[in-house]
Amino acid sequence: MANVYETAASFYDALSGERFVYRAGREAGVTLLGLRRGDTVLDLGCGTGLNLALLVDAVGPSGTVIALDRSPAMLRMARNRVESNRWSTVRLFEADATTFAPAQVASELPTGERHVDAVFSSYAMSVFHDWHPAWDRMCELLRPGGRAGIVDMQLPTGIHRVFSPLARLAAAVGGADLDARPWTVIEREGVDVRSMSLSGGHIRAVAATIP
Ligand SMILES: C[S@@+](CC[C@H](N)C(=O)[O-])C[C@H]1O[C@@H](n2cnc3c(N)ncnc32)[C@H](O)[C@@H]1O
Repeated sequence: MANVYETAASFYDALSGERFVYRAGREAGVTLLGLRRGDTVLDLGCGTGLNLALLVDAVGPSGTVIALDRSPAMLRMARNRVESNRWSTVRLFEADATTFAPAQVASELPTGERHVDAVFSSYAMSVFHDWHPAWDRMCELLRPGGRAGIVDMQLPTGIHRVFSPLARLAAAVGGADLDARPWTVIEREGVDVRSMSLSGGHIRAVAATIP
């Protein structure tokens, strides 16, 4: 299903429901992540880079954002965004999130560090064929006591279930598995867990410290 991102990368920002639905989730996720100035952060499955402004702003000029995606077309859009904003603190990395070598990603860090301070992923892990190997790699790259944040989607809950057909349509177009619920691993393994539900429960944003 990754090919949909190769063929539709140019239209992704316009067609992804960003303004009315999904932007609020990424904003909540980055806020819950609690980045500090100078932090290094990985954005896994970064797509066209819609998280980058928030992450670049949060880590400041002394921080670093590593944005990884396996789609060259999506990364081209991200690169355009980086260049037009002159973000010198962003490194783009083409790799499969479920098979990448954490040490190779760490070699992108300017400081010679082997770990990042935070890992983040929005609306991407539910698209991975299996998000568990990606989570293992995120943890390997994350320093002990670092922060992890996942924003993703499920069917709306409660009275908002009437919007389920729309959620199913969005998931089908993007190849997302609405039953994947990748944030649950943070709820299980993290401490100081913080979470938010948005859009009638359709979006979950969860962040925590990973011991
Ligand atoms: C729905 S988009 C989300 C993009 C971005 N995180 C956002 O919030 O807008 C899903 C992204 O996951 C990427 N992706 C899918 N499978 C992947 C994999 N196995 N490894 C890395 N990226 C993958 C796609 O190329 C696409 O850019």
